[in-house]
Amino acid sequence: MNKKSLLSAIKTNRLAQEIHFFNETDSTNSQAKTIAQNTQSKEGSIIIAQRQKQGRGTDGNPWHSDDGNLYFSIIFKNMEKINTLFPLYPAVALAQMLREDYDIEAHVKWPNDVLIGRKKIAGILCEGVAGKSMIMGMGININQEAFPKELQNIATSMKKESHHSYQIETVLNAFLIKYEDLYYSETDIRQEWLKHTHMIGRTITSTQNGIEKKAQVCGMSSEGFLEIKDKDGHKESWMARRGLDISTNY
Ligand code: BTN
Repeated sequence: MNKKSLLSAIKTNRLAQEIHFFNETDSTNSQAKTIAQNTQSKEGSIIIAQRQKQGRGTDGNPWHSDDGNLYFSIIFKNMEKINTLFPLYPAVALAQMLREDYDIEAHVKWPNDVLIGRKKIAGILCEGVAGKSMIMGMGININQEAFPKELQNIATSMKKESHHSYQIETVLNAFLIKYEDLYYSETDIRQEWLKHTHMIGRTITSTQNGIEKKAQVCGMSSEGFLEIKDKDGHKESWMARRGLDISTNY
């Protein structure tokens, strides 16, 4: 991928009208924050890197960022559209893209993981910038064939699932088309999310602050909160929160 091949691959109408391309950067989310704070960037501006030296995941975890995958962040400026449902859009768009364009059986895990079976194929990190923009950062494992030992049972890639290699900029364009169609339309994102998840009715195991809890998933609220019933039948509604980990074993 280079800037020229990227520019010719992108065929979107709303997103990626402004493109910042890096061979290498610390983190595209960090770059996006700096750009959103310091410049007159447009809604939908995208920051893409071939590799990241300090890719960031949720809860302060590092995000493994070798060559061959896709790392990007998009700046959203229209704060009227930023609400608790915001993180669901990229997850659903990616699951749709993997299923419809690549025949890979992806499903979403609340709040915004995208899995193949029990393994993660992508990660999403949404971060606000001083109340005036929102960053959606995504890493999609595309051509990675081998993962470090600690990730082998929990991570996968498009190549591992399909035994094909992909042009990174083509995958990016396919994702962006799905994402803008969903995000800038009147689609009921909650309904779309429900269509792409296996969680409803399943018993999940969550861990937070070392405390393990089992619960049955009943649904998702209009705000995008996970509705669960605990073992005594008490109902709760969970917001995505720091340190909350839900096992993929459901
Ligand atoms: C997760 O832990 O699941 C979220 C991972 C998010 C990784 C992406 S890669 C592009 C963007 N830049 C970052 O530093 N992080 C996000």
